[in-house]
Amino acid sequence: MSTKSVAPKQRRAWSTNVFVKQLMAISGLFFVMFVIVHAYGNLKMFFGQEAYDHYAHWLKGDAFYPLLPHGGLILIFRLSMITMAVIHVGAAFHTWYISNRARKDRYTVKKNVAESYAARTMRFTAVILLLLVIFHILHFTTAHIPAGFPATEESPYLRMVGAFNNPALVVLYAVFVGALALHIGHGIWSALQSIGWLRRNTQHLATVAGGIVAGLVFVVFMAPPVAIAIGYIN
Ligand code: HEM
Repeated sequence: MSTKSVAPKQRRAWSTNVFVKQLMAISGLFFVMFVIVHAYGNLKMFFGQEAYDHYAHWLKGDAFYPLLPHGGLILIFRLSMITMAVIHVGAAFHTWYISNRARKDRYTVKKNVAESYAARTMRFTAVILLLLVIFHILHFTTAHIPAGFPATEESPYLRMVGAFNNPALVVLYAVFVGALALHIGHGIWSALQSIGWLRRNTQHLATVAGGIVAGLVFVVFMAPPVAIAIGYIN
């Protein structure tokens, strides 16, 4: 009786690829949680300058004091974000390299059209996201690009109001958040698949859940900029 056996090298490559995809899934789900909290936190803009500035300063200062030292939360947050970004982007390059090599292999079965469309969308939106995250940090956090407000403006609330009085910035942020929505719409499905949580009967549910989270993230993120642009927040 013959048992199917996989060559050790092949098995090693297979398990590395699965591990890398799981790393990409876990770091991706970490980012999904961050964007949900970030989008929700920005809604504080609707409660006025005092509430928003207090929230922004609390996050960077006394959050969870004395459990954490002064500024502890933002430090832990930034270190985790950098670690997760290195893992996520590194895993993406690994997967891209492997699938490129596999494509050159004449024994590889051609992928279906939907799958390669999703993969292309993920790569395209990833590049937009990376560029706009850099822009975003230089814009609001460091004010190296003080578009819409003076670089010396200390109030996070006034920075936001200043920025989104400019319609061009509202459009740019809509592109940013739109790319994010497309990325996580498919990313959530893909992450659940990599972790092994999808079965034939839950595939559809995961597609719908990914779409709902993506849509909500877009609407909640864009609510303050649009409210500022139309003069509801000023
Ligand atoms: C309309 C959409 C968005 C608005 C209005 C917005 C606004 C802000 C503001 C006001 C800050 C705080 C800056 C500071 O005082 O230091 C911030 C921080 C941040 N935002 Fe956003 N954001 C948006 C979307 C996003 C998206 C889509 C991402 C990522 C995919 C993102 C990632 C970040 C990060 C990583 C920080 C923290 C930077 C740090 O370490 O201080 N933001 N955002």
